[in-house]
This record gives sequence, C-alpha cells and structure tokens, in this order.
Amino acid sequence: MKKYTPLTSLLLLLVINASFFESLNGAKILAIFPFSGRSQYICAENYLKALAARGHNVTVISAFPQAKPLQNFNDVPIVFESHDWSDIILDGNFPSISTWEALDLGIDFLTSSTRKVLEHPEVQKWLTNGDTFDLLIVEALEQDALYALAHHFKALLVGVSSFGTDIRIDELVDNVSPLSYIPAVTSHFTDHMNFYQRLESLYISVLDMLHYHYKILPLQYDLYREYVKNPTTDFMEIRKNFSLLLLNQHFSIGLPRPYVPNAIEVAGFHISHKPKSLPTDMEEFINASANGAIYFSLGSNINSKNLSKEKISILMKVFAALPYNILWKFEAPELPGKPKNVYISKWFPQADILAHPKVKLFITHGGLLSTIETIHYGKPIVGMAIMYDQFINMVRAEAKGFALSINFGEFTAAGLKSAILEVLQNPKYAQRAAEISRLYHDQPMKPLERAIYWTEYTLRHHGAPHMRVAARDLNFFEYHSIDTITVLFGVPLCLLVFTLWLMYKLMKIIARSWNVQNKKEKVN
Ligand SMILES: *[C@@H]1O[C@H](CO)[C@@H](O)[C@H](O)[C@H]1NC(C)=O
Ligand SMILES: *[C@@H]1O[C@H](CO)[C@@H](O)[C@H](O)[C@H]1NC(C)=O
Ligand SMILES: *[C@@H]1O[C@H](CO)[C@@H](O)[C@H](O)[C@H]1NC(C)=O
Ligand SMILES: *[C@@H]1O[C@H](CO)[C@@H](O)[C@H](O)[C@H]1NC(C)=O
Repeated sequence: MKKYTPLTSLLLLLVINASFFESLNGAKILAIFPFSGRSQYICAENYLKALAARGHNVTVISAFPQAKPLQNFNDVPIVFESHDWSDIILDGNFPSISTWEALDLGIDFLTSSTRKVLEHPEVQKWLTNGDTFDLLIVEALEQDALYALAHHFKALLVGVSSFGTDIRIDELVDNVSPLSYIPAVTSHFTDHMNFYQRLESLYISVLDMLHYHYKILPLQYDLYREYVKNPTTDFMEIRKNFSLLLLNQHFSIGLPRPYVPNAIEVAGFHISHKPKSLPTDMEEFINASANGAIYFSLGSNINSKNLSKEKISILMKVFAALPYNILWKFEAPELPGKPKNVYISKWFPQADILAHPKVKLFITHGGLLSTIETIHYGKPIVGMAIMYDQFINMVRAEAKGFALSINFGEFTAAGLKSAILEVLQNPKYAQRAAEISRLYHDQPMKPLERAIYWTEYTLRHHGAPHMRVAARDLNFFEYHSIDTITVLFGVPLCLLVFTLWLMYKLMKIIARSWNVQNKKEKVN
C-alpha cells in the first residue's frame, strides 16, 4: 500500500481546504422573491446583497431590480401588473366575507406570481440546459412549485418568511407551534388566550391548513407539471426539502416560543445598521419642531393619497392642532389645505428618520418591518392596523407597553388626537420602547450576521441534514403519537372490558348452575 509522505499530505490538505473555501465563498445562489409587494422584498434585499458582498454569485428574480449594477448581483426582473389593494382596504371597509373567502382572495395573486417566475425565459433556459445552483433562496409563502425547483437545480433550499412562521410554514421544516399559546398570525390575540380565543385561533389555523392543502397545493402542482418538463412524481416530497428557514421574528418583538434547530429567528436582518444623515430640508424641518417631530407612514404597499376625503381631512385637522411637526408619507405632489407643520413626501428614508433623536413618535400601519425598525431605534408608536399580521403586531406592541392602537376603519379626530398626545406626553411609552429596544439589541450577533452565518453553515455542511428533526420521516399517526397512545391506553382498556365481560359471563354460568341446582332441589 502506498503511504502519503508529509509533503503529499500537506498538498492534499491544501487542495481540500481550497475546495472547501471555494465552495464557501463562491457559491452560486438563486433567490426568488416573486411578490409584487415592495416590503416583502425589502425584507430580504440586504441579506442578498450581503451574500453578494461575501463573494457569492447571487442571481435574484424579483420585481425590484437594482438601480445601479452591483458586483456579484444579477437581477432577473419580472414585471407585474401591480395589484392595487387600495380600493378594498383604504377605508378599512373590508367587504364582509368568510375566513375561507378571505383565503381565496390571495389565490390569483399567488398563482400568477408563481407562473411569472416559471414561465420566465431565463428560468426555462436553466431548466432545459440542466443548469445547477448551489443554493436556492425562496420566499416561503405557499409557492411550492418554486420550492420544487431546488430539486431540478440540484440546489440546497433555504426559505425566508417575512412575518415569522405559521402552521403552513411550520410544515416545511416540521417546526412546532403549540396552538394553545401561539395565536394564528391573522388573529388579534396575544400568547395569553382564553378558551374562546384559543378556539378561534384553532379554527383559523385549521382553515389555513385545509385551504393550503386542498386549494393551493393542487394549483401549485399543476403549475409545476406545466412548466417543469421532466417533473418528478414526488412533488409532495421535494417541495418541503428545506435545509433552513429564516424567520423575520424575535422573541423580544413577538413572543417567546420553541423552534426546531433549522428554523432561525433573524428579525431586523433587513436593517443596514448605519444611519445616514437626512436630506437637509427634512432635517431642518425636524429640528424646527421644539417638542420633537412625528413620522406618519402607512408603509410601502399602501398609498395614503388614496384615503377617503373624510380620513384625509381628519388627519389634517388633528395634525394642524398638534404642537409638533409631522412628516407624512404622502404619494401625491400636492395636498390641498396642508397644514404648515406637515411635510409631505412620497418617500422617506424611514430607518434614518426613526434613528433621528428628535423624532418622538411613529404613527404606523403596524407592518412587521416597520415595527421592527421602530423597536430597533426605540421609538413608541400609535398603530392603525389595516390587514393581515398588522393587527397581531399592534396587539403585541400594546401588550408590551410601547404603543396605543386605534381602529383604522372608524377613527375620529378626538380619538386620534388623544392617542397621539397620550403616547407623546406619558413618558412610560418612550421608556418601554427604549427597554424593548435594549432587549432586542442584546444578542450575540447581529440579525444579518446570523442569517449569513446559518446560510453559509448550510452550504458548508451540504444542507446540514443533521439539523433536521426526524418528524420528516413520520406519518400523521406516528407524529402525533396516535398509534402509541392507542396502544398505551387502548390495550388496558380492552383488557378491562374483556375482564368485565368474562366476569359477567362467569357469573351468568354460576347463576344458571345455581338455579338448576335449586330447581332440582325443589323437584326433589
Ligand atoms: C453567476 O450566475 C449566473 C447565473 O447562472 C451566470 O449567468 C453568471 O455567469 C455567473 N457569474 C459568474 C461570475 O460566475
Ligand atoms: C389613487 O389615487 C390616484 C390619484 O392620485 C388615482 O389615479 C388612483 O386611481 C387612485 N386609486 C384608487 C384605488 O382609488
Ligand atoms: C439639526 O440639529 C442637530 C443637533 O442640534 C444638528 O447637529 C444638525 O446639524 C441640525 N441639522 C440641520 C439640517 O439644521
Ligand atoms: C433534499 O436536500 C438534500 C440536501 O439537503 C439533497 O441531498 C437531496 O437530494 C434532496 N432531495 C430531493 C428529493 O431533492
């Protein structure tokens, strides 16, 4: 047998190390963020840029290509007919529909965004050429046909969820969310629920699950069959082959809860951590406000210019009467009758505004990214939740004591004004905001570093199968211990029933023979 000399061992070691670092630094990454909502992409953008900056070759399919080309960062833009939610949501006058119908509202949107990606010539080219990637990063939200691409690109699969997890996302890595203290994302509850709240939360979760499995998944499977030329029959298997799930949550912001090892909380990973100075006129306007300034924004997906006339006039009336300057994200160039202490702009550098020491209050729709940014910079809020997880974010913020929430559908001038003044003038809100901010910042590494670390860990360890819980290999009955519980409690129960039956039979036999004896005695 040939022995390795020290020199060949050294060379071998160098080769091994070189290939190790090569695969680590130069991974070929495909990221798919198909939603047309700006905020879903903002959530991941910094993370993807950071991966590119670390030398990975990052290709991103999204509706938001970079304005200036970035090194190692290739955009594959997809175009959406932008979906205008304004008409349904802007006055909080949601049509009264059932939970099931509400779930149905998203179907067209999900189907068309999945289709947009699958039919893209670039994606089709990769599929026909048999191109491969080392890693596929997807937004984890009911787009299973896209998750399945990982199998065809021979890529490891990483999911990013912009709101944390729910019963549908849990399934992808067999995560656990005890329904007894983890409310459904679309509910309005905290982690301390009474019986009826737990019942409602359970009901919502079961509907979510049924809707996912019986309406969304069949559609996703059809899309997969339509666009992937050599489909595998094992769609249900490959769609949930996730190595890692990055969740935009943290227990200091949401609630303390358990996770499986490959579900990692990275809330705040979208924040770049380096506040820049504000445009001069903006900062002058903030500086000019002796009592500090207020920032008001309904987020990137909602246009406040489309609010009803009544709502706009209430807002203007309230703002005009406040001894504070207000920055208002308003998308039109003109706001007729705009009070002097209001500054409008269609875009604000939100993080830099919140970082400014003279900005004292954030009036927000309560989107999770905005909520995280306000906690990052320790500012209290007045919340007006409009849809989806915004309600639960605001319920939590109120429970944590750094927010007051008002009803967006029917707020009055008096109600809005008193909420604003209460949060600004009662110091407890700002104090709580500062405390929560301290808790959030007290982490062993920054959220973005953590996201990068676990992503590269996944690459280093070839999908890190050692992190996956064994639940993946169990069926429903095994997973919920229904089979073992049945045996544990069922067998003694059967034995008991059998024993009782036996005793009954025996007693009958004894009684009969006793009767026979009696009769015989009587006859005799
Ligand atoms: C990066 O990946 C893209 C997509 O596969 C490919 O077209 C490009 O050539 C790669 N760039 C480098 C520098 O390898
Ligand atoms: C929103 O306002 C713009 C004008 O500023 C208008 O063109 C658009 O149709 C409005 N959208 C809705 C849904 O009302
Ligand atoms: C605003 O005030 C701060 C501190 O008082 C000062 O450093 C900054 O230069 C001022 N900015 C402008 C644009 O006046
Ligand atoms: C699932 O992912 C692992 C890597 O984590 C990979 O080795 C395996 O082939 C994948 N399975 C399928 C069915 O694609």
